[in-house]
Amino acid sequence: MSFLLSAYRTFRPLLFRMDPEPAHGLAFRAGKIAQAIPGTLSLLAPITGGIASALACEVFGLHFRSPLGLAAGLDKGAELLQIWKALGFGFVEIGTVTPRPQPGNPLPRLFRLPQEGLILNRMGFNSEGAEIVARRLKRRPNGLIVGGNIGKNKVTPEEQALDDYRIAYRLIAPQVDYMAINISSPNTPGLRRLQAPETLKPLLEGLQETRKEMSLERQPLFVKLAPDLAFEELDAITDVIVASGFEGIIATNTTLDRGIVSEFNRAKVEAWGDGGLSGRGLKVKATEIQRRILQRLPREMKLMACGGIGSGADARSAMDDGAALLQIYSALIFEGPGLPAEINRELAQFVSPST
Ligand SMILES: Cc1cc2nc3c(=O)[nH]c(=O)nc-3n(C[C@H](O)[C@H](O)[C@H](O)COP(=O)(O)O)c2cc1C
Repeated sequence: MSFLLSAYRTFRPLLFRMDPEPAHGLAFRAGKIAQAIPGTLSLLAPITGGIASALACEVFGLHFRSPLGLAAGLDKGAELLQIWKALGFGFVEIGTVTPRPQPGNPLPRLFRLPQEGLILNRMGFNSEGAEIVARRLKRRPNGLIVGGNIGKNKVTPEEQALDDYRIAYRLIAPQVDYMAINISSPNTPGLRRLQAPETLKPLLEGLQETRKEMSLERQPLFVKLAPDLAFEELDAITDVIVASGFEGIIATNTTLDRGIVSEFNRAKVEAWGDGGLSGRGLKVKATEIQRRILQRLPREMKLMACGGIGSGADARSAMDDGAALLQIYSALIFEGPGLPAEINRELAQFVSPST
């Protein structure tokens, strides 16, 4: 086990004694300090090791050092990009960014269940707003693929959702390498209804128009989907996305299904209240959704697999299924900053240099 992984295991009980949001705030402040002190990040390199060249891949003309990315929601405001790069991520999806700033839901809104590697969140798109995030992205580091994930403001009625996505798209898209349309967070009332084919079609067509107006046709567009979809619904949604001319799908977001929690802990999690669950127990559900999507997705379109990935073996099985890229979030909270390098190392053992 790497030094960073074992150091984090020692330190984790202390960190986890804090409430999740203050712990997150502390980790972010430490990250910002490390980024600000010249030379600090180069100290990480010998600890994380380099990324094996066999992991490099080209997707839609973008060069990824590794197919492993950080999922949306952890660095909503693109504040720690240099840190993610130093830890070995091949790419980072920032956001979800809303057009206008909004505070998100009241606290508490984030809970962890370490015994099961699960997180429950109802953050509700706390966002500094697209203008501030776009400004920050202008100083993004080289050599790291950055995706932008956008959503709508809570106060915006569903019928006007396209306007919100357009505002955020116009500000964020010019600063990033790919864009993701988030219509699958369970924490913005009504957002998931945008996944219904009859509302999804005009939304995606509208965003295609905006992309054309901005001459960004070559920049890939992804739709991020929920895991809580019956196969028939999912098939219909996939068909709309394929017909829309988008480049791919990110699957999945968090689940509303409390059945992924063991019976032993179910009452505790239910007492936490509303929100989406992520982490280890999401893997089975997310994998079923990913496989179903892959059955219908033409080869020229790509799937980013997300949901419960926490090891090289998980990463490999998602790629064996046909995912082009991978994203993690919850496992990083439980295993710490050494995890991306560890997954890269494990994944490299499975990839032959010729691929
Ligand atoms: C605290 C928290 C906040 C999240 N915020 C967002 C978000 O703003 N936008 C989004 O698309 N996904 C968000 N997600 C979902 C993750 O990007 C990911 O889809 C989900 O957690 C499943 O991956 P995992 O099991 O590796 O965590 C969030 C997840 C967590 C745990």
